[in-house]
Amino acid sequence: MKTRFMVLGSMVLGSTALVGCQGAAMSSPGGGTPSDVPTVDAVITAPALELSTTIDGEPAPTDPDYVPTPDEGELSDRWRDELERREVDYQSALRVASMRLRGDLPTLLEIRFLEAAPDQRAAYEAMIDDFLDDPRFVQQLRLFWRDTMKMGGGNLDTAPNFAAQLVVENRPITELFTATDGNCPTFADGAFSSADCNSGAPSQAGVLTDPAVMRHFFSNLAFRRVRWIQETFACHAFPAEVGESTDVGGVSPYTAPWDFESISGSRTTGRVDFHDTSSVICANCHATMNHVAPLVANFDEDGMWDDGVSVPTPLEGAPMAERTDWLPEGEGTAWRFGVPANDLPALGAAMAADPSVHSCIAARVHNWAMGHGDVVDQLAIVPRAVTERLSATLRASGFELRAVIYDAYTSDDFVRF
Ligand code: HEC
Repeated sequence: MKTRFMVLGSMVLGSTALVGCQGAAMSSPGGGTPSDVPTVDAVITAPALELSTTIDGEPAPTDPDYVPTPDEGELSDRWRDELERREVDYQSALRVASMRLRGDLPTLLEIRFLEAAPDQRAAYEAMIDDFLDDPRFVQQLRLFWRDTMKMGGGNLDTAPNFAAQLVVENRPITELFTATDGNCPTFADGAFSSADCNSGAPSQAGVLTDPAVMRHFFSNLAFRRVRWIQETFACHAFPAEVGESTDVGGVSPYTAPWDFESISGSRTTGRVDFHDTSSVICANCHATMNHVAPLVANFDEDGMWDDGVSVPTPLEGAPMAERTDWLPEGEGTAWRFGVPANDLPALGAAMAADPSVHSCIAARVHNWAMGHGDVVDQLAIVPRAVTERLSATLRASGFELRAVIYDAYTSDDFVRF
């Protein structure tokens, strides 16, 4: 007999149901409710014009009559024109860059040096390069990654440390998902010391096998870990994937690309009904989530790997989950529809190769430079033109994030006011 999800009682009211399920924004203040969340394609790709309500007499997105044109090219040209109209101000840029990259104002000497430089741009860019070699940058970078990963301090620093170390040592940032050793470094006296993650997992995959991550985001059915992976590195709340709409008997259609019956629920197997359509279409989010969760479900409450599933269910008595609570027998795990991942190294490799992960990392660097909030919680959406340029920089550099940081802090967006 199928037992219904215990807390469903608190989840039956439209978008309140989603909030009940997704919980508050992960330890971050002021998170938007899922009903505010734009469609998958809109995020980190939408043109974000918000200063004026008209541009060249045309309505802009803050105008209630605004209808986005399908022609992104035209819109971004207009957006670019707006940017071009702003004045380049290297002194102001230097002040902001110094605060963000070193946590300190520029010195009087630096200000005078820039003032006197015959080639303002060259002098400014050389100074940004210097900032990126400053020991204080390492600290700022660690703080950036703590914010990004929503963990840090005490014994929760290994993942942010690892990300910061990859940047400082000019290693591909994709090692975050693929590193087979040295994935849990410590930091003391201004230096990183390499250390392996010791979760006992059979193979290593960067932060995906970091016991501190797994401990910090432990929850029923491992969904909080899945959410962390998704929101941190794909920059979008669930649902992560949208395909064709299918009528599955609910008030709204089923929109994930997976076969509706590729996950557990009343129509297949398992003890939680992910096929429920009475309030929301659970499967819109859980189709993707349930294909990822079993990969991170063997880490126990302390983040240590166990041979069996080690996360509970929210059912009466909190019994341990079984694989069939997520997926029917024979259904494989995956990062996305059409991107199978049999184990954590395969998940890491799939993430490292995913252009939307590259765009996400680029968007996060842009928002850091521009002083915008978290791309997911604050809906600090980055225009497509920006993420395209920065993710091209990321790929061209062999995934060295330092190149993206340099690009962001020297870009037109940053130096014009
Ligand atoms: C909008 C996307 C979305 C929809 C729709 C959705 N969920 Fe979830 N669900 C999530 C996310 C994200 C989490 C993880 C929340 C967290 O722990 O931060 C989650 C967590 C859960 C959990 C674990 C809760 C716990 O106790 O930790 C269960 C069980 C669950 N969902 C079942 C359902 C069911 C049943 C439905 C349909 C009635 C549903 N979900 C609809 C996204 C969704």
